[in-house]
Amino acid sequence: MDPIAFSELRFLAPARILVGTGCRSELPRLLAEAGRRNPLVVVDPRIGDAPALRDLLALLTVGGSAAAICDEVPGEPYVETAEAIAVRLRAGQHDAVIAIGGGSVIDAAKGAALAATNPGRLVSYEGLDRFEAMPLPVYALPTTAGTGSEVTRVTVLGATDPIRKISIKGARLVPAAALVDPDFLRSVPPRVAAAAATDALTHALEAYLRPASSPVSRALGIRAAVLILRVMAAGTSFMESRHLLDLATGSMLAGLAFGNSDVGPVHCLAESIGAVYKAPHGAANAVLLGPTLRYYGSAVDAALAEVTRSAWPDLFGSASDAVAASALVEGVARFVGGAGIGTMLEMCGGQIDLELISALAETNNSNASGPVPMRAADYRRILQGML
Ligand SMILES: [Fe+2]
Repeated sequence: MDPIAFSELRFLAPARILVGTGCRSELPRLLAEAGRRNPLVVVDPRIGDAPALRDLLALLTVGGSAAAICDEVPGEPYVETAEAIAVRLRAGQHDAVIAIGGGSVIDAAKGAALAATNPGRLVSYEGLDRFEAMPLPVYALPTTAGTGSEVTRVTVLGATDPIRKISIKGARLVPAAALVDPDFLRSVPPRVAAAAATDALTHALEAYLRPASSPVSRALGIRAAVLILRVMAAGTSFMESRHLLDLATGSMLAGLAFGNSDVGPVHCLAESIGAVYKAPHGAANAVLLGPTLRYYGSAVDAALAEVTRSAWPDLFGSASDAVAASALVEGVARFVGGAGIGTMLEMCGGQIDLELISALAETNNSNASGPVPMRAADYRRILQGML
């Protein structure tokens, strides 16, 4: 038989994905269908008294008793944060975790769900499929459009001694359900939302541009990028109500795209300045995306042009690859510049160690996932061009 060229895909996703305005109200039904009667609600304290949260918590009140709530997740969660929640999960004999928040809350909840059913410290589970027992089911309701953690198999947590970020990965860490309700986005400050949206666009484009991505990840990546780019074209009014569903949907699709593939060099740089200078993840990706795409040059023109033409067929249907690709890159730069996200140098405290950051980026696990080969010298050139 002739050899057959084929690709095989193991596709991971929550068993239930609900998308739409008001879909949060379906949570009690999903819990009941799964026989989960005693969830712990882990909620982002920064949401405050948002109406979308208030009515959801009312729905979770059963027989007059409100659901147990944990609202002690810091902006950057540590393994200790997740372990403390796990202590509460065990003490209260909770049978599910409901995570309502941004990526930090969802990651903390995923870590807690794992720590509640597996012995020892969470750091011992760093890496892929290192844990044995099934974590408690996580019901994830993202309140920002950025990380895509509601649909991925990974949790990223801070660890000390040495100070670093650890990734715990496993197919069983994918949340049982994701409820993507754009009503939650109404409480996000525009500058934070802009950084998160650019992070989501980076997930979409890095999964789409990665040569080893499956056709499924590429399809999800291009659709996610189209949705997010169209919203970004609204400039400073991108958070108007009519855009929120597309933004939330784009972020979730981007999560599925990179969650079943990988990110790439933009994240390699963003994670490096995040580790060394504590630069916020979304903002770091936001300022690095444009310069990195520009550095790839004509190698990505055809791929990026396909995205631009899909987003605006009337405007770019007959434009050359170079013109259509450059419109995408300049559009991102305009959006990021207008959103007041700041500069890379500001995020790094005024100065940056180019040698250290470019060396770290080259050793990042995702370095080989870029559309062109990237070495430390390439990363250094990108960073130098931003100074
Ligand atoms: Fe990211």
